Amino acid sequence: MVKIFIFYQCISIVVLFYLCLPVVYNFLVAMMSMQVMTKNDFLDPDTIRDGLNTKVMGKKAYCFRETGSTQTVAQELAKSGAEEGTIVLAEGQTEGKGRMGRSWFSPLGKGIWVSIILRPLIPPSLAGRVSLISALAVAEAIREVAGLPALIKWPNDLVISEKKVGGILTEMSAEMEQIKFIILGIGINVNQDEFLEELKGKALSLHQGGGKEVSRLFLLRDILRRLDNYYPYLQKGELGTITNRWRELSATLGKQVRVSFQGEVIEGQAVDIDSEGALLLRLDSGFVKCLTGGEVSIID
Ligand code: BTN
Repeated sequence: MVKIFIFYQCISIVVLFYLCLPVVYNFLVAMMSMQVMTKNDFLDPDTIRDGLNTKVMGKKAYCFRETGSTQTVAQELAKSGAEEGTIVLAEGQTEGKGRMGRSWFSPLGKGIWVSIILRPLIPPSLAGRVSLISALAVAEAIREVAGLPALIKWPNDLVISEKKVGGILTEMSAEMEQIKFIILGIGINVNQDEFLEELKGKALSLHQGGGKEVSRLFLLRDILRRLDNYYPYLQKGELGTITNRWRELSATLGKQVRVSFQGEVIEGQAVDIDSEGALLLRLDSGFVKCLTGGEVSIID
């Protein structure tokens, strides 16, 4: 009798086990897909703003899966009166814009491709300050979040081991005396495993640099907080601490460089930046030239 009872008990355990299998399977699949979602940290306005605590940057956010260029979208929003600090972000860009009319490789879900609308109360001649604080904010954020030794190549490239991990594009709409708006575009190669053929050897992702994936969400939030913190100093013109920190993180100062600017190529030693972020280049003649823009290549 007892044997028969144990036999039926065993049968019911086995049946129960098989009945539960689909439930257990579905539970495991759900857990795994949640992990994948966390890993991809898909960027959306609520997630970005959650705990951001900034005064200006990112108070309003637009996120797209794919767009031509976030710069173009941000420009249209700025023209129709969007508030300062509004960010436009895309998971991927089909027509990403770089400096000097170049295109910017922006594959889906792999980087930070973001444009920020700024309306600083400074004359157009001082707009270089935006590049100065942005490059510093991004370099510091990469160091903090990814733990990698990012440096700034003047004017605003972010480099690790002389390879480009990020770049900044500032586009301005202004009248004679007053800036209407600046679109600050930030592009960071975060988790790419590969680059287009023409970028190989020149570009690097943070993933490639440190051997592990980096959270785009944490990096973006850190950049927005740092920008938010530096922005009032830009408006007040109190840039001493910022320029000093910029100097510490410079990959250019002290180097012999070649600068291409408006069709001219000049060589000299990069000796310093001035209080507005312009590069001071000592020519062979000893004359120190002040450059407000250009493309730098390091000779030694
Ligand atoms: C550079 O050439 O170094 C600047 C690259 C800037 C790329 C960013 S990605 C977000 C924003 N949208 C664009 O089309 N370009 C900028």
